[in-house]
Amino acid sequence: MATGPLGYSLDEQSELCEALSDHPEWKLIFLTETSSTQDEVRNRLAYTEADYLCVVADRQTAGRGRQGRAWIQPGGQDIAFSLSCQVRDRYPPLLLPLLFAAALHEVCTDFVDTPLHLKWPNDLLSPKGKVAGILIEGQGPDTWIAGIGLNVESRDFPPDLAHIATSLCLLTDHPLDRHTILGELLQVLARDFAEAEAGKVDQIIHRFNTALGLTGEAVLLDIRKDQVRGTLDRVTSDGVELRDGRSFPLGEVTALRAET
Ligand code: BTN
Repeated sequence: MATGPLGYSLDEQSELCEALSDHPEWKLIFLTETSSTQDEVRNRLAYTEADYLCVVADRQTAGRGRQGRAWIQPGGQDIAFSLSCQVRDRYPPLLLPLLFAAALHEVCTDFVDTPLHLKWPNDLLSPKGKVAGILIEGQGPDTWIAGIGLNVESRDFPPDLAHIATSLCLLTDHPLDRHTILGELLQVLARDFAEAEAGKVDQIIHRFNTALGLTGEAVLLDIRKDQVRGTLDRVTSDGVELRDGRSFPLGEVTALRAET
């Protein structure tokens, strides 16, 4: 297999494009290095025609997470990409966090033996720490840019992250191949967006709730500055529904966790 100086080899890039050949609405771009794939997508949207524009980078020099945090990605080991989603009126915008989280959980659980779980709104966790994060940013009224950072082969983390971060390779004895995992993730996302556009939103919501694993459990919700207790029925793109009939708009729920 031909290898590039860094990042995804040309063969890997063409395999990944081939994996999306049933989805001409997707455009896939590979970069060795960029500041942030979020900004790359934002800039390229000005001159690129695609319903789903996806930029994959081997290394980010100024990757960012939620709440102004940095997302460190040294290159050669992990997965980082951003995807533009032109929501228009094709599906509810607040379906996006559910769709991305469910897809990430579905694919990553295929590659490790350890159970993984979702932490609302943006983390994929293992018992050893955080494996992946999702960042969703608005770009005009109808367009969103969602970025995923997934630790695949990193073994060493900066001191301030060492106790909270882990990677897929630290959760399994099997060898892992970054581009295979990325291929599955892109295919699952393309499948899910096709479902969403076809109005099959309930299937995505069902997969998210199964991955979240909190239905029927006692939960604590942070709603702005208040804390609410209840038994979770389900999370939908409209909001968090409790068994006693109360529901809370999704955009207002900043944390959702099992009450221990
Ligand atoms: C978080 O956990 O706070 C979200 C992390 C999101 C990181 C990804 S990596 C690809 C994309 N580009 C960025 O600059 N951030 C997101």
